[in-house]
Amino acid sequence: MSADARHELFRGRRVAPSILSSDFARLGEQVAEVMAAGARLIHVDVMDGHFVPPITIGPLIAGAIADQVHDAGGAIDVHLMIERPENQIEEFAKAGADCISFHQEATPHANRTLSAIRELGCLAGLALNPGTSVDAAAELDDSVDVLLCMTVNPGWGGQPFIDSSPGKVQRLRTELGKPAIEVDGGIDPSTALSVADAGASLFVAGSAIFGADEPAAAYAAIAAAAKAD
Ligand code: DX5
Ligand code: ZN
Repeated sequence: MSADARHELFRGRRVAPSILSSDFARLGEQVAEVMAAGARLIHVDVMDGHFVPPITIGPLIAGAIADQVHDAGGAIDVHLMIERPENQIEEFAKAGADCISFHQEATPHANRTLSAIRELGCLAGLALNPGTSVDAAAELDDSVDVLLCMTVNPGWGGQPFIDSSPGKVQRLRTELGKPAIEVDGGIDPSTALSVADAGASLFVAGSAIFGADEPAAAYAAIAAAAKAD
């Protein structure tokens, strides 16, 4: 995918289905279903059993769906919840990631890691835990393409949205201004509306989409609430 096309996808207002809550035995089918409904960003949650307790998936799975997603005009949005993410970014870039986000709390070298992600040709995302202040991103502002504001504590799908999140999104929007703001955790049509009003433009949703009887209809309901492209 060209750099322009990648920027275009992440600059829009979009709902990004998280495959964490999908049926992995039917992964390709589930991805096809949400893309047919309009999804263009597919969110891949990577957990290492250290930064967060669970272990989920790695570059093999990102790579397994990358061609399908790209051929349908979409992008792979990787969210690393792992210690020392700088050691893994090259593998995810090779697997076809378009944006790689890592946690500010997971490395002492956030600035260097953001630059390394851009050098690999990907968009660079910085994720903040709910307990991490807005100031933590301020020094990194120029190096960040996507700011991922966790709206639950990272580690599990299906948790309740943290009610103070819209206020934090608003502070990120006012104090940083430039990067796209992505929200992740507990997003459904009602919470999507509250963070959209606060300034978020990318909305990750896992259980509200793949836990629904009809993922395509669930995607459409969140996209409508978020006024997604
Ligand atoms: C949580 C992950 C999320 C997760 C969200 O740590 O980063 O992307 O899939 O799941 P829901 O939408 O169910 O809260
Ligand atoms: Zn995520």
